[in-house]
Amino acid sequence: MIDLRSDTVTKPTPEMLEAMQRAEVGDDVFAEDKHAISFQKKVAKMFGMESGLFVPSGTMGNQLGVKVLTEPGDEILIDEKGHIFNYETGASALLSGIQIHALTGDWGKLQVHHLRNKKRGIHDWEPVTKVICLENTTNKGGGACYTRLELEEVKAFADKETLFIHLDGARIWNAITATGIEPEFFGTIADTISVCFSKGLGAPVGSMLLSSKERIAKARRFRKMWGGGMRQIGILTSAAEYALEHHWPLLEGDHRRAMEFAKTVEECSRLSIEPDSVETNIVLFDVLEGDVPGVLAELEKHGIRMVPFGPKTIRATFHFQISEQELKIVKETFKLLFN
Ligand SMILES: Cc1ncc(COP(=O)(O)O)c(C=O)c1O
Repeated sequence: MIDLRSDTVTKPTPEMLEAMQRAEVGDDVFAEDKHAISFQKKVAKMFGMESGLFVPSGTMGNQLGVKVLTEPGDEILIDEKGHIFNYETGASALLSGIQIHALTGDWGKLQVHHLRNKKRGIHDWEPVTKVICLENTTNKGGGACYTRLELEEVKAFADKETLFIHLDGARIWNAITATGIEPEFFGTIADTISVCFSKGLGAPVGSMLLSSKERIAKARRFRKMWGGGMRQIGILTSAAEYALEHHWPLLEGDHRRAMEFAKTVEECSRLSIEPDSVETNIVLFDVLEGDVPGVLAELEKHGIRMVPFGPKTIRATFHFQISEQELKIVKETFKLLFN
């Protein structure tokens, strides 16, 4: 099966498993796991942040980010395609008691003109707008990345309006690969960043919240409260470190394969795709003839898996366990079925 449903479907390699076995571990609830401690410091430094907290999932990283930046009754601004808004089971309403104000941006990205005049909280009867949540790359926005200038403009706006910025960097590694922006830059833009090792980097588990010492200490208490205090997590942080060192350089290939696949989709008369819409490893395309379940079923019969992503839309996500040969098979199958 050629599995393009997500970049989360990768399996640990034998080399990654070996690195996990070698990790020097301890009980992380007692803050005694040597590998976790050093890896948290390393990633925080990479992004120019004071501290890092390893968490089981990107969802927990995002939810902790929202939690430490808000008080119950506050409001956060996010693009209507944002993961926090669409795919985290409404957690911020429950866990932080906040309200989400979803805005219509471009490809899941919010620019200053989308944010202008959206801050509330002058009157007693209004929610207090506290945080702008950005996602980079955007998942539902088809893997789009922010430019340096766009981020600088949003940061200047946030400062002027005294709003915090949370950055959902589940695929920040793809954004860095595609744009060449150095990781430390993101630490100058965001107050909290959540990064994932379990997407295109291919670790089996794990994300990290990055922020100031004070906020990470606060997040650590909530991580425990929410059942995310873990014990010998060095086996997980060593997988994440292995992924960062050995799999990050492979993302460039994923992006190239995604773009090649998109070109084939462009040539298929039964499908449509926005030209030049692919910036990283995610490809979104629409079904013109037939329906999404029908197209996915046809693909499944040919040994290819993708996911529905809207009434007319399908998502294909490339990752390092998709080979050139498999890309060739996918392209040939598309030409055969959808031309
Ligand atoms: C942009 C984005 N943020 C957060 C997450 C959540 O990650 P997890 O599935 O580890 O909770 C995902 C998952 O795909 C994602 O795409």
